[in-house]
Amino acid sequence: MQDPYVYPNTRTLKNRLSIKDPDFIRKIEADYTSLRLRELTENPLTGCYDLSHLKRLHRYLFQDLYDWAGEFRRINIEKEEPVLGGLSVEYADHNTITEQVTSCLQQMTQRSWHQMQPTEFAQHFCFDMASLWKIHPFREGNTRTVITFCCQFAEDQQLAIRREIFEENSVYMRAALVAYNAVFHDLGDLSKKGYLERIVQDAFSSPEQPR
Ligand SMILES: Nc1ncnc2c1ncn2[C@@H]1O[C@H](COP(=O)(O)OP(=O)(O)OP(=O)(O)O)[C@@H](O)[C@H]1O
Ligand SMILES: [Mg+2]
Repeated sequence: MQDPYVYPNTRTLKNRLSIKDPDFIRKIEADYTSLRLRELTENPLTGCYDLSHLKRLHRYLFQDLYDWAGEFRRINIEKEEPVLGGLSVEYADHNTITEQVTSCLQQMTQRSWHQMQPTEFAQHFCFDMASLWKIHPFREGNTRTVITFCCQFAEDQQLAIRREIFEENSVYMRAALVAYNAVFHDLGDLSKKGYLERIVQDAFSSPEQPR
């Protein structure tokens, strides 16, 4: 099936700037969203961490680029992952996105975060962030949206998180989310959770004092 989100016979997403060159739009997209991410760090988008809050966050980040910013995808997608030898994570069927996101966010917002020990806390945070990421509710921009959303949630709970660690290690972070979610219908459970748990524990720990 032709992907309705791309220009015909290309892999370039239709965009508000009518840019068809894939490398150029990738660069422009990174620039615009990093500006919007900065704005959000200074002025977080208020909400109660439900479905509509997640959509509004995506809309804010991608408002300059895509008409469908803030809308869940209407097709199934795959993304080739180098760390899986070109395989894709099995993202949610598009018909189940609303239901899966709702349940994932309910779980995250109902946990007793303040009663957890640091290790348990990091494990649950990883589980919730990785579960939301595995759904991949949007056609594009899921990693930035999900990480920003979960970090803002943590900050709203008065949990100190150094979110710049995720941004500075964005390639590692994607690989860690992929490794966490490497569970396949045919190949079975190949998941490795340690990579994500390590960086999340780091992000929640105090910076080391200079010697
Ligand atoms: N946490 C982050 N903070 C800032 N920039 C990020 C972050 N994660 C990824 N990026 C940047 O966003 C761009 C696209 O990354 P990537 O394609 O891995 O994620 P995505 O587009 O947000 O999600 P996906 O493609 O999985 O839907 C890259 O330039 C990457 O460096
Ligand atoms: Mg992407």
